[in-house]
Amino acid sequence: MHQDVERILFTQEELSCRVQELGEKITADYAGKEVAVASVLRGSYIFMADLTRAIRLPITVDFMAVSSYGSGTVSSGQVEIKKDLSDSIEGKDLIIVEDILDSGNTLYYLMDVLRARKPASIRICTLLDKPERRAKPIAADYVGFQIPDAFVVGYGLDYDEKYRNLPYIGILKPSVYGGWQGEF
Ligand code: IMP
Ligand code: MG
Repeated sequence: MHQDVERILFTQEELSCRVQELGEKITADYAGKEVAVASVLRGSYIFMADLTRAIRLPITVDFMAVSSYGSGTVSSGQVEIKKDLSDSIEGKDLIIVEDILDSGNTLYYLMDVLRARKPASIRICTLLDKPERRAKPIAADYVGFQIPDAFVVGYGLDYDEKYRNLPYIGILKPSVYGGWQGEF
């Protein structure tokens, strides 16, 4: 285990198993359809790669990047599109793939932007959900795991752009970011 990690929440095996289940659920729910899968960079890049390989349907993949946080742990509350989707989503069945649904600020804003582009449907698939911290009325349609109010890293998730390549998801030691205040 990495020295900055306090505790492992989900091992590589547990993640792989749950992602497989999500892929099977999506495959069943969208049977007979083609799905446009779009992920929000960068935190979801590993989840996206594993999830799409677990979906047995014709799909397209696309990416966007937004920033809602600074480099530290204090939420700015502002959401900015840094990189937009490359393809049109009009008339498509769209699944947005996120690493973690926390305050909900990012997805709440994004859903508005994407709905205006008239997809046939939109659903959200998030690997992790921290419902206790929700500030906006938004829920995901597919959730990998609900987690407690702690700062987690690994499997794509970062703190200050580090730890994304840890193969598991773990709780970061509060000493690494100067103590947990329950606020980013
Ligand atoms: P929200 O807008 O508060 O829902 O935040 C969503 C984004 O915040 C996620 O896509 C992550 O990039 C980041 N985030 C929230 N909680 C964590 C965490 O525990 N670890 C790493 N990143 C997080
Ligand atoms: Mg993210």
